[in-house]
Amino acid sequence: MRIEEYLGTLPKSIMTGDDVELQDDTLREIFEFASLGKDDVFYHLGCGRGRSLLIALEEFRVKRAVGIDNSKEKILSARGTLGNSFSNGVLKCEDVLESDIRDATVILFWFSDDAIIEKMTAKFSMLKKDCKIITIWGPLPGYLPDKVNFPYIMNKTPFKKANDLKEQIMAVFETDCIDFVTAWEFAERYSRAIASKNAENDRFLTILQTLIIWINAKNLGMACGDEIPLPVKSYMGILKTYFNIEIEHLLNQDTL
Ligand SMILES: C[S@@+](CC[C@H](N)C(=O)[O-])C[C@H]1O[C@@H](n2cnc3c(N)ncnc32)[C@H](O)[C@@H]1O
Repeated sequence: MRIEEYLGTLPKSIMTGDDVELQDDTLREIFEFASLGKDDVFYHLGCGRGRSLLIALEEFRVKRAVGIDNSKEKILSARGTLGNSFSNGVLKCEDVLESDIRDATVILFWFSDDAIIEKMTAKFSMLKKDCKIITIWGPLPGYLPDKVNFPYIMNKTPFKKANDLKEQIMAVFETDCIDFVTAWEFAERYSRAIASKNAENDRFLTILQTLIIWINAKNLGMACGDEIPLPVKSYMGILKTYFNIEIEHLLNQDTL
């Protein structure tokens, strides 16, 4: 089956990311990356069960931490996570598109819904100077990242426009051509950051992400060399033989 069909068989709550929560160690890495500190007003958009707020308040001693989620059940669970010990911890059951985020200095924004990302990027671009927006995997659409420790990406206001997708990818991968090893290394970093700590699943996720990174690079003319590298051919073969998943059709025929 084609990879799109395969993805269609996966639980919706996983594919939308609605039931994917970041692990505590990943949250700490993100807060280190953002240099989160005592003068910060931290917002987590799509905060889920509120672990990020607890860590931001308890360990990084932020001035204020605000969690926004449109799921009543998640906000209720987050209230339990925070308890009554933090007067500077705020939880709002709202749609991020409607929320007032003007006092934010650091925002964690991990969404994959293109419509939400586009509208929120416009909203972020109006925020005061030096507000840091942390995303995972890719920078905000159309803008160059200010700081990258893949898969963590920072855009800081006022945003800097990217000439095109190629310039954005070069800023994230810090190279003008992507080979198999680079694709694998970045895919592994992503799996390590968001994955379930189940080695088998993580390896499968890394194989898929590696091929997606390499195929996107090839389609954009940013893959090293003209040939399909042997490891890429092998993993495409492994996906087909052992998982009955086809991915070659994603390659633009004119780039081969
Ligand atoms: C990782 S976020 C991202 C989910 C989102 N579907 C996406 O990827 O674009 C998951 C959390 O965001 C919450 N969420 C999803 N859409 C939201 C919205 N429009 N406003 C506020 N919270 C939202 C979910 O309840 C969940 O706890």
